[in-house]
Amino acid sequence: MPATTADTASQPAPDGVRHQPATNGPRHIAIIMDGNGRWAKRRHLPRVIGHQRGVEAVRRTVRAAAEMGLAVLTLYAFSTENWRRPEDEVSALMGLLKRFILADLDEFAENNIRLKIIGDMAGFSPEIVAMLGNALARTAANTGLTVVVALNYGSQDEIARAARAAAAKGAITPETISAELDTADLPPLDLMIRTSGEVRLSNFLMWQAAYAEMLFLDVLWPDFGRDQLEAAFAEFARRDRRYGGR
Ligand code: FPP
Repeated sequence: MPATTADTASQPAPDGVRHQPATNGPRHIAIIMDGNGRWAKRRHLPRVIGHQRGVEAVRRTVRAAAEMGLAVLTLYAFSTENWRRPEDEVSALMGLLKRFILADLDEFAENNIRLKIIGDMAGFSPEIVAMLGNALARTAANTGLTVVVALNYGSQDEIARAARAAAAKGAITPETISAELDTADLPPLDLMIRTSGEVRLSNFLMWQAAYAEMLFLDVLWPDFGRDQLEAAFAEFARRDRRYGGR
């Protein structure tokens, strides 16, 4: 007898993680929000304006994701490599992050949205760390969409940290490493989206992307919103996920 949807759902994939049936929509989407600078350049505007418009795209996308019933939206906001950008751009990004938390935290709390941070908080100012700590605590009990913001995040760093933690406890296996990743409490990544036409992972969720569908879009991040997210759901539904099987 062919496996039913429920049977398929209960079978762990080779990475040891249980995956959802292919017939459902995505539960966990991650986005590499690329193209803010190019969006601004095309309009002869300063890069920071592109980042500001990028925050508006974050807002639209979070609202749409919550309304569409997505479980987890993971956003690559600041990589371990982004510290190499000019000081004024780094400080503009920090300012935008602060303003985003201040302006949107109430909406998160009211809409049952939980905030989670992945990455290494060391390096951020005490003010930002305190602000993020407060935002995490205030939304910790929420059960709707989880918005994961990757800050000072690098996948190689995360895997190295997880491997060290797994080794300290005993065996190093895919399962024990998975259990130590920053994302250990989240459902498996279903769909990775990168905007701006670049086709690479840039040190983002490389372990978690093992069986994720990939979607590379030509749209620049400030132009992303509900329509693009709905189109991504539709594209995901057309994909045939086999996890290495047939
Ligand atoms: C890539 O554009 C974008 C970033 C490095 C930062 C993403 C940050 C935001 C959208 C704003 C802050 C986020 C939150 C959650 C408040 P780019 O500058 O690399 O663009 P380019 O490749 O066209 O130059």
